[in-house]
Amino acid sequence: MINLSTLLDYLALSPTCFTEDVVVITGAGRGIGLQTARAFALLGARVILAELSASGKEAEKLILAEGGKAVFIQTDVSNPQDVQRLVEQTHQHFGPATILINNAIVIQESSVLEMPLNVWDQTIAVNLRGTFLTCQAFLPDMLAQQRGTILNMVSTDAMPGLSAYIASKQGITGFSQSLDLEVNPAGVRVVPFAPGMVDTPGIRSVAQGLAPRLGLLAEQFLNLSLHAGYDGLMPAEHAAAAAVYLVAHLADEFHGQVVNGYEVLERAGLLKTPQEQPVTTDLPLNKSTLNMQDLLQELSAILQETDNEFNQLPIFVRPMARQGFNTKSGKSLLEWQRLVGALMGSENSAPANLAAQLQALITYYQEVPQETARFTRDAQVLQQVTDTCQQRITVIKQLANLFS
Ligand SMILES: NC(=O)c1ccc[n+]([C@@H]2O[C@H](COP(=O)([O-])OP(=O)(O)OC[C@H]3O[C@@H](n4cnc5c(N)ncnc54)[C@H](O)[C@@H]3O)[C@@H](O)[C@H]2O)c1
Repeated sequence: MINLSTLLDYLALSPTCFTEDVVVITGAGRGIGLQTARAFALLGARVILAELSASGKEAEKLILAEGGKAVFIQTDVSNPQDVQRLVEQTHQHFGPATILINNAIVIQESSVLEMPLNVWDQTIAVNLRGTFLTCQAFLPDMLAQQRGTILNMVSTDAMPGLSAYIASKQGITGFSQSLDLEVNPAGVRVVPFAPGMVDTPGIRSVAQGLAPRLGLLAEQFLNLSLHAGYDGLMPAEHAAAAAVYLVAHLADEFHGQVVNGYEVLERAGLLKTPQEQPVTTDLPLNKSTLNMQDLLQELSAILQETDNEFNQLPIFVRPMARQGFNTKSGKSLLEWQRLVGALMGSENSAPANLAAQLQALITYYQEVPQETARFTRDAQVLQQVTDTCQQRITVIKQLANLFS
């Protein structure tokens, strides 16, 4: 049993941190929403629990018993009248909202072929339309105060059997990024927040159906760890701690990009950052024996191996890994392969800044061992990854030298 108050103390979050804030949390009756509501209340906020089910009343009682300020307002976030009433009652109880956490979800497992239309519609209505409705309804108050933070809970992963949920979450990511561009200049921060893989009633409700689709038993699914700091799922209290820490200390740094809960907890000092495993790039180069076409062949093989490695990752991690590659190396694997193919056809087709582009690829492979250490503590695996990256960097560096 995690003591949330002790956890917040450990992160040096003061019990008066949010005394000036009115926080609205949707879906606050259980899971991450409940723990986040408790965390904000423990840090002095006045909290509105916007929850569809009667569990919101239990959450209110729990927070009051812990000495916090909270009111349950029964709300269906997909219903515009309910959301309007939520704004009015927030005003009556605590005044205008300064923080909005869009956390409520519908999550149901089904293949696309078998999905009843109402499952698709309800998932999109609660998750995506609900997020739009609450943002639209609470923004005028935040803009009037020239301050506000909106955390929209998202999920970074593709997943068979969860297409409606994932579509809604990726919709929320794009929505949040666009909204941040609209309102950030006026003092309102909009952050899509992917907490991690968190132990909640929501995830437990789909484990049985999802696990076989991933070749796992439900028990194995519920023991998956996406960070070396956890043996299984992240506790909901930790996801809540990440949410409050992000709002308190980090939200100014982000402008629409998805923020990951594990990274927040590393920044907060709760999780260890992966050990630095610097990869040496000062390897001996022997220009005289190099053949450019051989090096291009080798680079093509490296890119193919990287693609195969991505495909072997747990299904949750693949999109994140590919996105990381694209961002850091400046291109997707496919675009790199096209470039290499063109260079094999004619070395004269090299773009003027090819050496700089190759340097970005070198930087990517330099950081791979450190990234891998997020997911495994196995020293042998980490050494293998480091050695492989070192060999790859040697090839790319030699190529970059030829084009510099
Ligand atoms: N658990 C995870 O691993 C995980 C991973 C990535 C993202 N997230 C995100 O974190 C958030 C919380 O997830 P969770 O696992 O704690 O969810 P959960 O299913 O355990 O809780 C969701 C809550 O939303 C409420 N709700 C449902 N429909 C509603 C409606 N129409 N109006 C108001 N409330 C409604 C439910 O009653 C419930 O209390 C979600 O947005 C989810 O997408 C969770």
